[in-house]
Amino acid sequence: MTATLITNIGELTTNVGADGDPCGTLRDAAVLIDGGRIVWVGEAAASDVSSRFARSTTERVDAAGRAVLPGFVDAHTHLVFGGDRAGEFEARMAGTPYSAGGIRSTVAATRAAGDDELRRRLAGFIDEMRRQGTTTVEIKTGYGLSVDDEERLARLAAEVTDEVTFLGAHVIPPEYAGDRAGYVDLVCGPMLERCAPFARWVDVFCEDGAFTAAEARRVLEAGVARGLEPRVHGNQLAAGPGVAVAVGLGAASVDHCTYLSDTDIALLAASDTVATLLPGVEFSTRQPYPDARRLVDAGVTVALASDCNPGSSFTSSMPLMIALAVREMGLTVAEAVWAATAGGARALRRADIGGIAPGMRADLVLLDAPSRTHLAYRPGVPLVAAVWKDGRQVV
Ligand code: NIG
Ligand code: FE
Repeated sequence: MTATLITNIGELTTNVGADGDPCGTLRDAAVLIDGGRIVWVGEAAASDVSSRFARSTTERVDAAGRAVLPGFVDAHTHLVFGGDRAGEFEARMAGTPYSAGGIRSTVAATRAAGDDELRRRLAGFIDEMRRQGTTTVEIKTGYGLSVDDEERLARLAAEVTDEVTFLGAHVIPPEYAGDRAGYVDLVCGPMLERCAPFARWVDVFCEDGAFTAAEARRVLEAGVARGLEPRVHGNQLAAGPGVAVAVGLGAASVDHCTYLSDTDIALLAASDTVATLLPGVEFSTRQPYPDARRLVDAGVTVALASDCNPGSSFTSSMPLMIALAVREMGLTVAEAVWAATAGGARALRRADIGGIAPGMRADLVLLDAPSRTHLAYRPGVPLVAAVWKDGRQVV
């Protein structure tokens, strides 16, 4: 693979070191990538680095003073599904409140869709995300809810990412409406057995209308026993036990965190569990935003993700999440960009992504702007000029 030297970077977000600057910012910087990895990063005049790395096989990119940052790490999505719920959205905007019940209509549409259709849609979403600067994506099952359909979604997701999450415990499907215990047995037994070979993570929606704390613990413990690592959907629609369950089981992340008690925040702050905030949900359901400022001030590690799904947040835009976190949730620009890159990497327990340093994967975004601030300052404007994934330019 040809090496690539990116010079003349006006503002480089490394996310490494630097007291008081979570983004570890370098000015007038250059990055050399080779073999899919970053091999050198520094502040240097373009002419210095060019002569230092003079190799005929090195492709040169002049960033012309623009900003470069790590590719976005979207650590929470539900991308394998059939149909959409535009009608539900329209009704919500006319006053019908969001409830998790809509998930069942996507389950019906997903079961009815063939593999090729789901694969084609998935490829479309991955492409849409790449063009917006996302280089790593986690994908959950959870719209199949039968053994065969959950396995199918896990298999299709594994075709496009290593970060697959088994979410058989999303809601109780209609055919088990009178038999909760029977469904939890199915999830913890045959469904887990068939999905585990394709998955790294196990997740559960721990909320009124979905699964109780006891059911959630059973599902997560079964997943862990089968070699998966736990993460949790919790505290989305109301205060509840999601955070306590997640922290108690050493989950990598608890996601949503919209309604938190002081005890929840203290538990998170004293743990390694990341709070993954999903402001596309509050935007799309007209709910109050989570208080990211309070979390960061308490010492909680915060990630931002899109939660891209047809019900509560049908957007794949990490720049939008950054803009919302800054405008509505009290984060500084640097904190929000960190949360959408390094924070996502922490939520996936990955040390090889989310930063720009020697040895890390060469996943980078070049903005058509002089600084990362423009991601929040110019909401809705497509600012991604180029994207490298594993050292290969993909946009
Ligand atoms: O993360 N909270 C649970 N699951 C999804 C919603 C899925 C849906 O409404 O289809 C979420 O918001
Ligand atoms: Fe979700």
